[in-house]
Amino acid sequence: MITTKTIAGLLHEISSKSNAKVGFVPTMGALHQGHISLVKKCVKENDICVVSIFVNPTQFNDKNDLAKYPRTPDADAILLEEAGCDILFMPSVSEMYPTEDTRNFDFGNIERVMEGRFRPGHFNGVAQIVSKLFYAVKPNKAYFGEKDFQQVAIIKAMVKQLTIPVEIVACPIIREDSGLARSSRNTLLTDEQRKKAALIFKVLSKSTTFVAQKTPAEICSWVAEQFADDKEFKLDYYEIVNADSLESIKDWSESNDIVGCIAIYCGNIRLIDNIHYTK
Ligand code: PAJ
Repeated sequence: MITTKTIAGLLHEISSKSNAKVGFVPTMGALHQGHISLVKKCVKENDICVVSIFVNPTQFNDKNDLAKYPRTPDADAILLEEAGCDILFMPSVSEMYPTEDTRNFDFGNIERVMEGRFRPGHFNGVAQIVSKLFYAVKPNKAYFGEKDFQQVAIIKAMVKQLTIPVEIVACPIIREDSGLARSSRNTLLTDEQRKKAALIFKVLSKSTTFVAQKTPAEICSWVAEQFADDKEFKLDYYEIVNADSLESIKDWSESNDIVGCIAIYCGNIRLIDNIHYTK
């Protein structure tokens, strides 16, 4: 595996393998098996696998969250090498933002709901950095996790809007044994909180068994109730939405692809997860 910190270095490495199919996995590091599942799929489906590690300041609406974001570059490099990554791109902030990125994207409703409502500016920052990374790497395929369900929708809208010729591949959520969705932020939980956080997936899974008896709104209330008695949890939202438009649904008949999305604090760590409903 070759590691480079500059766009020039990256271009040099990629262009030395002409006609190769380039796969790309953008990350913010503190890698876990969720990330590695994307990398392994990327290695399998392409001639070259490029992974970026860059904690992107423009997508953090909370500066404290940015400051405490876990950074484990040495362990990350070992995991990537084992997974078969060819090129690791680890740019500095000044490499990616030599001047301020003043672009303001508008993706309509999909950027205003859920994470967009609770984390203003977050998806604009994601679109800024991912578009810059796509311009540098020029991948044929890029891999994203469904753990960040709304992010996948934003990236698909972005490549359409900017006509970037890349195929976006959405990959399933990888979970810990307890069911908790793997996340770099899980390492910031205490042992006690990490055990408690397993309740999130338990509640989401159970909620899918009520489709025949309850309306989407009733399920949303039921989910909220399950966390109400424990002071450790603070729910930002639970919404059951059309998986394409991300609009809340009132009736199960409104869409064939329905997903429930949660954002919840466990202590002061904000976690997200989602689950599909089948009728
Ligand atoms: P990060 O949180 O590091 O995630 C990088 C990729 O790994 C994302 O596509 C995310 O959805 C995926 N991922 C994380 N946990 C996962 C899990 N448990 N199962 C499957 N996939 C998982 O998402 C970002 O970074 C950033 O916003 C980024 C796209 C890199 C732009 O800065």
